[in-house]
Amino acid sequence: MMPDICHDYSLQNRHSFGLKAKTRRWVSVHSENELRDALVSQRQQRAPLLFLGEGSNTVFTQDFPGTIIHLALRGIQWVEDDAQFHYVEVAAGENWHDFVEYTLSQGKPGLENLALIPGSVGACPIQNIGAYGLEVSQRIHEVRILDLEIFAFRSLSNEECRFAYRDSVFKHHLAGKAVITAVVFKLPKVWVPVTQYADIQKYFVEHAIAAPTPRTVFNAVVSIRTQKLPDPCITGNAGSFFKNPIIDQTVFEQIKINWPDVVSYPQPDGRVKLAAAWLIEQAGLKGQAVGGAAVSEKQALVLINQGDATADNLKALVELVIEKVRLQFAVNLEPEPLLV
Ligand code: EPU
Repeated sequence: MMPDICHDYSLQNRHSFGLKAKTRRWVSVHSENELRDALVSQRQQRAPLLFLGEGSNTVFTQDFPGTIIHLALRGIQWVEDDAQFHYVEVAAGENWHDFVEYTLSQGKPGLENLALIPGSVGACPIQNIGAYGLEVSQRIHEVRILDLEIFAFRSLSNEECRFAYRDSVFKHHLAGKAVITAVVFKLPKVWVPVTQYADIQKYFVEHAIAAPTPRTVFNAVVSIRTQKLPDPCITGNAGSFFKNPIIDQTVFEQIKINWPDVVSYPQPDGRVKLAAAWLIEQAGLKGQAVGGAAVSEKQALVLINQGDATADNLKALVELVIEKVRLQFAVNLEPEPLLV
């Protein structure tokens, strides 16, 4: 296959928030060889470069003056297992949710809590996607990258990825220095359901499910997400727009004086994670709009494009949310998606 190359290409359907923006050049690559060749020819161009999967965690707020390389590598391969795990190597351009469904159809569960998360497999390690009690880092064995500094393909072990809450080495030391081309997952041979999350417990009670199976956990997650999160195919959005802030115990005690029912999750290091959605809702911002950009009525952590949002609308709304939450709680919210 040849890479697909376009000029002055519209990005509106290439990022799930759906703002109007264009890129000067768009190159879709389907294999590691095509990726390498595209980068070699790019070297003479000296224009800025960006790598993109399905665009569900990237928001384009203006035209991009360089080349976007779209990672469209496909392929799923089971590799040799061991006593504990099945291993499967998945190309970066595979769709995340389709891959989760595929593993269940193969009778190899372990990813069902992460069903319906938008985006591609190659993007999942960068922000260490997590939901309903599971982070993908718990199921990642290795990440295969093109190391741009040595211009060679190599693999990073789970440990080398330095995973943390919505964080990894790809946002720090390797930011701009690596392209993820594949991920190797390890799926436990002995399946242990992850069902401690309140919403899942509630679903099991309502559906009278006593002993969960991979399929019922999957169904629970799909049902909860469908109810609580706007579908990016219908309403433009980029998932959670802010990270759940992690604050010091002393700051937390201060907040608790005025808001005794603040939603919080104690962290192993003694700090406390707050629910940004709760902070935003308490600040009276649910449904708040600036032009076509709004705080979702369904989930206060999600900002939506009501159809005609401009980049200025979105930027003004983000500033308003950050400012109001800071004034009320003295907590700083940080955007989660990459804003370009
Ligand atoms: N809440 C509110 N108002 C709202 C929504 C939620 O007060 O409008 C409260 C809820 O009552 C609950 C708490 O906030 O007590 C947490 O809400 P929820 O369980 O919906 O999860 P979250 O912390 O808002 C995180 C992830 C989601 C993930 C869910 C489920 C982040 C930034 N977000 O949201 O991930 O699906 O947990 O595990 O960590 C994403 O990253 O795009 C994403 C959707």
